[in-house]
Amino acid sequence: MANITQDDLAHPLTYGTEAFLSREYAAAEKELLWPRVWQVAERIEDLPNVGDFVTYNIGDDSIIVLRAAVGDEGIRAFHNVCPHRGRQLVDTPDGVHSVRGNRRSFVCGFHGWTFNIEGQNVYILDEADWQGGLTPECTSLSPVRAEVWGGWVFVNMDADAVPLVEFLGDVDRVLGPFEFAKMRYKWRQWVVYPCNWKTALEAFMEPYHVAGTHTQLLAYGDYYAYSAAYGLHGVSGFDQKGLAAKMAAKDPGAGSVSRVGKGDDPRKSTYELARENYETVNFSASTETLVNAAKRLVDELPEGTPGAEIIAHWLKSARADDAARGVFWPDIPPEIMAEAGLAWHVFPNMSVLQGITFALCYRTRPYGDDPNMCIFESYALERYPEGQEPVTAWVEAEANAEKWGAVLAQDFSNMQWVQKGMKSRGFRGTLPNPHQERKVTNFHRNLADYIGRAAPRRLG
Ligand code: FES
Ligand SMILES: [Fe+2]
Repeated sequence: MANITQDDLAHPLTYGTEAFLSREYAAAEKELLWPRVWQVAERIEDLPNVGDFVTYNIGDDSIIVLRAAVGDEGIRAFHNVCPHRGRQLVDTPDGVHSVRGNRRSFVCGFHGWTFNIEGQNVYILDEADWQGGLTPECTSLSPVRAEVWGGWVFVNMDADAVPLVEFLGDVDRVLGPFEFAKMRYKWRQWVVYPCNWKTALEAFMEPYHVAGTHTQLLAYGDYYAYSAAYGLHGVSGFDQKGLAAKMAAKDPGAGSVSRVGKGDDPRKSTYELARENYETVNFSASTETLVNAAKRLVDELPEGTPGAEIIAHWLKSARADDAARGVFWPDIPPEIMAEAGLAWHVFPNMSVLQGITFALCYRTRPYGDDPNMCIFESYALERYPEGQEPVTAWVEAEANAEKWGAVLAQDFSNMQWVQKGMKSRGFRGTLPNPHQERKVTNFHRNLADYIGRAAPRRLG
């Protein structure tokens, strides 16, 4: 099926609702998408010791990710199934986020076949009964590719997949300097939510919705957004200059969460913007250090200081504050900082909103076979002084402001109604903004490639 190119994304395009609503499409994703892509299973910080393991379930597949040796090279992944007659090696009940533990061997609960942490079979009851017919190949665990990038363990069920860093492409080039591997979980939450996994992820992929959804934020900043495609992946950010003409995919301008506020006194509004972001996005999307340093701007800078100088001073003093407590900032070249924008979609199901010392991340997955349900997960990462990293675990949290903060609650208040609205007989198909929502259209362009379905097409 002919698909559109990245350059076509600058034009007004439309795509239908099949990807969100059809059970048959969800079944196709199980065959054609999930088994062929790199996807995050867990942060490597959850697997500090040899024998530590965690399960990751996607579609009907369950994967055991474990540490067999020290270092990134010591991570292994196997399909969570016994090669004898197919019992799950680690039980993964519905409604449980993931199963964790530490084992030096995995003993199947059915007939006791046993596997070491390299996936090799080390015990078969009455093996002679097979008359020599069993080989190590047919009795070992089925391997899954596992590679580490930025502190995340990615897995891929496709033995022929390109290496992870090649799959990540520009994500590696632009986000690599943020050194996410040095960040640790601040909090992590999940909920089963009534919409498709893509409906959920797309609620966090474009800042075009800020003005309509997060109206309280308009008091502190301007939110004219841009977005750009980078192959499988995409970026979005705020166009500080508010120039609608910036349409070129690789000329997105400066944009990050650490930006100048609007109004008569940007010293004050820059602080208000940072504080608002921090407090209403569940204490993520900034840090205490950045907020406190922004609070001092009004004392440390004269009235009328230009915006660029305010930002430079703010970041310099926050960097010094962090260094004093043992948190060291990476040196990110300014052109990379500008290109990094606000947030990245990492195909297919990951979103990262990055800062110099923090990140707010999302992952969504299908829930069962129902295209109207998903597992929604969000977590904050931050750099901590060594030894002061908090101990966190996945917490199931109802989709409300008390549990997730005011801003995510506003996003939740759209997602299920988008899912319902798209079912309307009166809905003619999407009309994504060719400038500000290009990241979403690019997602559907790439999905169409994987699933072999209708690609976004020109309007009219
Ligand atoms: S199914 Fe695992 S030992 Fe029989
Ligand atoms: Fe939002």
